[in-house]
Amino acid sequence: MTSRPAAFATFAAAFVGAAVIANRLAGKPVPFLRWSVIRFALGARRLLGEGQVGDGREEALAAHVTATARRGDIDDVIRAIDDFAHTRSFLMNVGDEKGEILDAAVRRARPALLLELGTYCGYSALRMARVMPPDATICTVEINPANEAIARGIWEHAGVGERITSVVGSIGDGGTTVARLRDEYGIDTGTVDFVFIDHLKSAYLPDLLRIVDEGWLHPGSVVVADNVRFPGAPDYLAHMRAEEGGRWRSTDHRTHVEYQRVLRDLVLESEYQG
Ligand SMILES: C[S@@+](CC[C@H](N)C(=O)[O-])C[C@H]1O[C@@H](n2cnc3c(N)ncnc32)[C@H](O)[C@@H]1O
Repeated sequence: MTSRPAAFATFAAAFVGAAVIANRLAGKPVPFLRWSVIRFALGARRLLGEGQVGDGREEALAAHVTATARRGDIDDVIRAIDDFAHTRSFLMNVGDEKGEILDAAVRRARPALLLELGTYCGYSALRMARVMPPDATICTVEINPANEAIARGIWEHAGVGERITSVVGSIGDGGTTVARLRDEYGIDTGTVDFVFIDHLKSAYLPDLLRIVDEGWLHPGSVVVADNVRFPGAPDYLAHMRAEEGGRWRSTDHRTHVEYQRVLRDLVLESEYQG
């Protein structure tokens, strides 16, 4: 006889399968009801630990970019990545809708040095490189070396490899990465004009506080945080709300989770007051 949990699991799998097929046949009216999104959700535990979904989609993205985007054409590389995420496999990039919020924040801030936490396959760094001043540079920190290697290949293909430096590590690793950023990459007192936070949600607040404690920001530095509503960074949001009008002044950008229009998200843009 089949046990109750096994019967429920079989029923749930059949239900999800039927829903995905029906969604496909209906021309995908529910954009996140796709195999690649469901596979992504099932890989959430591995994703949190390792920063990859575990089905090879990041390597497939790199191959897709090389095969379909014109070498040296940053617009075409960004187009190819969005195309892959919309039509082949969901990716946890900031995406095209929230990407425009990020672009606008970088344009307003006109930063000379940008620091990113969470590189993944290099999409957001590409977007920032496209709109930042011509002599600006990005330093991006990624915990997973496989992601960093994929991102570097994509930046080279787009022709911006020399303007983006990637560091494998984590601000929260006890000081090693912070020391490397300071000693090897020249990130020091008052040098960071713009920070994009898009890595482990529970690390947003401690890593921001570490950056502030290091003195890397200056009055007028801008920090943009993705996914503040979904999956959510409640302690980061509470901190910014508590500091509003004091050390920080924030603007809410109400938007959607990447590559769909149903789930809502919040991008928080915060200016450091010193
Ligand atoms: C949401 S993705 C970043 C997406 C990227 N910013 C984009 O929009 O193209 C999150 C990335 O953060 C990385 N990550 C997770 N924890 C981290 C940490 N503590 N420090 C640095 N990177 C981390 C993951 O490996 C993953 O590649």
